[in-house]
This record gives sequence, structure tokens and C-alpha cells, in this order.
Amino acid sequence: MKLIIEDKEKIADAISEVFLKTVTEKPDCVLGLATGSSPVMTYQKIIEKAKERKVSFKKVHTFNLDEYLNNHDETQSYRYFMDHNLFYGIDIEKDNTNFPTEENYEHYDEMIGQAGGIDLQILGIGADGHIAFNEPNTPFDSKTHIAKLEEQTIKDNSRFFASEKDVPTHALTMGLSTIMKSKKIVLIATGKNKKEAVRKMFLKEDISCPASILLSHPDVTIYADEEANPNK
Ligand code: F6R
Repeated sequence: MKLIIEDKEKIADAISEVFLKTVTEKPDCVLGLATGSSPVMTYQKIIEKAKERKVSFKKVHTFNLDEYLNNHDETQSYRYFMDHNLFYGIDIEKDNTNFPTEENYEHYDEMIGQAGGIDLQILGIGADGHIAFNEPNTPFDSKTHIAKLEEQTIKDNSRFFASEKDVPTHALTMGLSTIMKSKKIVLIATGKNKKEAVRKMFLKEDISCPASILLSHPDVTIYADEEANPNK
């Protein structure tokens, strides 16, 4: 597992380059996508650079990591987030963009496999070490499933909602084994509330820190800013 320390803008620059290289070299590649604050600047850079360099996403397929369950506000859905932070800015076909749903989640891993497997997966990390919505103590062999959100995660995500009680309590999420099948993984960790999770993920594989499963993946790069630098 590689660790790169950079400021937020350089992280977004570097990861947007990895994305565009993947799409340029393999126009029908499969991308695994995350929502939340961490990838927003990366998505902006992808939009700008894809326009400049005329990179087409027409044949790209995407699979998002997760989606809220029983969410009553469409504008809080991860589909809405992706449309507004990335998809509307590139020429991707809506039919090629996938999210776990109550109808498909039991087949989501197969759907990813049938599309050829994820070539590049982008991840954020929760303050409690979660990746996607795999909270502490999620089995390492989990597939796409319904997860109950921890209190800490509900608190953290309430910043996007009118109040904490509006945050859905459950979500559909890729499992840890689903994520581990990705060929290449990049993870963004910025801000001081991520530092402890990053420190823990480098220690040893331990289900109390779900992100530590990445230690045994052959191609993972962690991009952290100074505030999340575990060695400081
Ligand atoms: C979102 C996701 C989550 C976030 C994590 C960090 O699709 O999978 O695991 O990556 O909660 O969220 P931010 O980036 O908002 O700090």
C-alpha cells in the first residue's frame, strides 16, 4: 500500500490523471465511484480535463459504492450527487451508470463481474475506518449488502441534511470482498478527523478498521493531506 502526502488540490490533480489515463487507455473501462466530500474536487478536475482533451466516457460503465435506503429526499441520493458532481459534466450514458438498489443488490457483484470487473476504484474513508458503508466489524468476505449506519457516520453525514434525524439509518453498499476485487484502488483521506483511521489502516488487517483490508490488495494508493498524515 503506497502513501502519498499532498495538498487537496494536488491530490485531485493526481487522481483525475489516473482516471483519464484509465479511460484513454481502455475506453470501455469500468470505474468504481464514491460520493461524499473527498472526491468532489477530483470530479471537477475530471470534467475540466475531459472537456479540454476531448476524452469520451461513452463506452465507460460505472458502479457506485453505495446508496441510501429509504431516503425520502431525492436531492440527498447518491444518484443525484453523481449526476450533479460528475455525470452531467461528461458524455457518459445514463444506462451505463449503476447504483446498488433494493432490486439489484443481491446481484450487484455479478453485474460488476459481467461488465468485466472494476478497473479503477476510488474510495473515501470514514473517521471510524469505514470504506463504502462497511462499518467496523463488517466481515472481510462481505458482498454487496444492506448496512446499518453507525451513530458516528450518521453524525458525520448530517452536515448534508437539515437535521440528524433526516439521515437514513441504512444503506446499500458494496461489500469488502466486492471492493477488493477491483484491479486498482485509490483512496482519498483529507482532514484531521481522518488521521486516526489512516494510522489504524496501516497497522494490520483488523475488522475493527474495515479499510485495513486494503493492506493485502496488490495495487492501492492512499492520498492523504498533511492533516491526515499518519506519520506526523
Ligand atoms: C461514499 C462512501 C463513504 C465516504 C466516507 C467519507 O460513497 O463510500 O465511505 O467515502 O464516508 O466521506 P467524506 O468524503 O464525505 O468524508
